[in-house]
Amino acid sequence: MKKLSYVVIAVTILSCNQGKEQKMQATNDSLRKELTKTYRPGLGEFMLGIQLHHAKLWFAGQNQNWPLADFEVHEIQESLHDILEFCRDRPEIKSIGMIDPAIDSINNAIQQKNPVLFRNSFLLLTNTCNNCHKATEHAFNVVTVPTSLPVTNQEFKPDK
Ligand code: HEC
Repeated sequence: MKKLSYVVIAVTILSCNQGKEQKMQATNDSLRKELTKTYRPGLGEFMLGIQLHHAKLWFAGQNQNWPLADFEVHEIQESLHDILEFCRDRPEIKSIGMIDPAIDSINNAIQQKNPVLFRNSFLLLTNTCNNCHKATEHAFNVVTVPTSLPVTNQEFKPDK
């Protein structure tokens, strides 16, 4: 009699656990479904952000506003990292590393507060943006050195 009740208890515990596992699986599945619905910016949206930082970077450098230039180039770097993190489904991101030497060169120019080096590095950066667009069949997105301020509500001259 005692043995039988042990068996009954064991079976009850096992079936309870199985129910819990099924419930947990269902929760996992629905969480996963919700996650796929959460908003993530696409590659094009990251690029729009990079485009603005690229333009601001130019005017910061032109005004020898090195703290602002440093900030803007780091915003570009942050976006590039985010692209690697959030746009893994885009095969084009394999080419993203080609931009590293140009970014290093800009960082170096900013550290040296050297306007000539900055200008050359910025041209290299802009060429590299376009080279990646060519490599990824987006050659029609041609980036240029900006000819007018990207915004009118920001000071690009350094704080005196
Ligand atoms: C991986 C290589 C790669 C690099 C490096 C890269 N881009 Fe792009 N860029 C792309 C791809 C791919 C697209 C198309 C994105 C899409 O499908 O929406 C794009 C699109 C763009 C667009 C068009 C966005 C729009 O919707 O109008 C701009 C502007 C742009 N890039 C600017 C830049 C700038 C500025 C740089 C350099 C600082 C840069 N890109 C570097 C690959 C690259």
